[in-house]
Amino acid sequence: MAPVRTTGAIAVAAAISISMALLSHFIVSGKTNLPLPKQLKKKKKKKKKKRSNSRNGLTDAIGNTPLIRINSLSEATGCEILGKCEFLNPGGSVKDRVAVKIIEEALESGDLVEGGVVTEGSAGSTAISLATVAPAYGCKCHVVIPDDVAIEKSQILEALGASVERVRPVSITHRDHYVNIARRRAVEANEVASNNQKADQMDGQSLKQINGYPMGENCEGSSLLNNCRGGFFADQFENLANFRAHYEGTGPEILEQTGSNLDAFVAAAGTGGTVAGVSRFLQENKPNIKCFLIDPPGSGLFNKVTRGVMYTSEEAEGRRLKNPFDTVTEGIGINRLTQNFMLAKLDGAFRGTDIEAVEMSRFLLKNDGLFLGSSSAMNCVGAVRVAQSIGPGHTIVTILCDSGMRHLSKFYNDEYLSQHGLTPKATGLEFLGMQ
Ligand SMILES: Cc1ncc(COP(=O)(O)O)c(C=O)c1O
Repeated sequence: MAPVRTTGAIAVAAAISISMALLSHFIVSGKTNLPLPKQLKKKKKKKKKKRSNSRNGLTDAIGNTPLIRINSLSEATGCEILGKCEFLNPGGSVKDRVAVKIIEEALESGDLVEGGVVTEGSAGSTAISLATVAPAYGCKCHVVIPDDVAIEKSQILEALGASVERVRPVSITHRDHYVNIARRRAVEANEVASNNQKADQMDGQSLKQINGYPMGENCEGSSLLNNCRGGFFADQFENLANFRAHYEGTGPEILEQTGSNLDAFVAAAGTGGTVAGVSRFLQENKPNIKCFLIDPPGSGLFNKVTRGVMYTSEEAEGRRLKNPFDTVTEGIGINRLTQNFMLAKLDGAFRGTDIEAVEMSRFLLKNDGLFLGSSSAMNCVGAVRVAQSIGPGHTIVTILCDSGMRHLSKFYNDEYLSQHGLTPKATGLEFLGMQ
């Protein structure tokens, strides 16, 4: 039967004055004049075209993720704590949205063409998302990552068909920082493509010399870069397509899913795309929603948000020779201001620690069956901190960025945690000062 949509008043009036047979027709047709039996027959014959519920390919299945009540944290804090299940995206993380937006905007502008290669310097999630969606656009993916990132991330990338370079972690000011290498690879791919066009008899070896510097020794992607129709550097830190993915997608979804009944939003920042896109959208559309950052160890953003100073003497990026992120949480925390983060509209910030993130992940696993990655766990620490700060009776939204599956070798590895003094011991939320 067709869906019944009518007002109570019509239904009551109809029930009193006419027969049940006529009533059913009133409801279905929504008209008040009686139709002829012939017309009725016609309508019955006309088969309603069933609207398809299927989505148009992989990329159409990205976004519109569920928003769930995290029961344990809601009960403990007296707030409604809601998590946006970004780990349910096809590529397994919040970065799927960003990958789609970056590629679509680049294709639209002509900076990337079908058959081209998208390069990225990423500690994992964005690269996995780019590698996942690139084939849907007829493109390839080359990824440069620091070699201290969990090994399962590069295994996934290779399985997805991307080429991977694992490089020594160095400061962003260094020419061989993984982000700078990725940028260079796109330039190289463009040069190769244009030289190939000019002289297709040239072989790969001579092209490598024309590029001005050799490909990295362990660059397994050289054949991919030599055989593509140009390169495009995704540049998730500075490319504002990242911000727009959240400003146009995640933010509006959160507002709709909560019926605009939310008081606060909190998330950690890596590139800053999520916290910037969501906070700006929410505050532009409902200015009384408070937005907060939760910042992991080693990151300078807490100071930036609370004191306006990013570059403290011990945190200045240029002074560091090693990876500055001394934390078990992956993908979050940064010591420079990105174009994306600069668009955030924040009311405050909290600091989170590694042990809090580890304890939170085990607490959620035990109490809610939520198997979450390290940044999601940190975000939930942030949600509790916000609840403690604004008090019970409020609705707080955070992001569940990815699942624990990608964190087996560190965050969910007892031996690794024990070596770093991070063995979880809590029975409840006492690590956040709650009974
Ligand atoms: C797993 C994970 N969570 C969270 C973030 C942070 O999100 P954003 O880059 O939007 O600040 C990242 C960034 O790479 C990530 O990989």
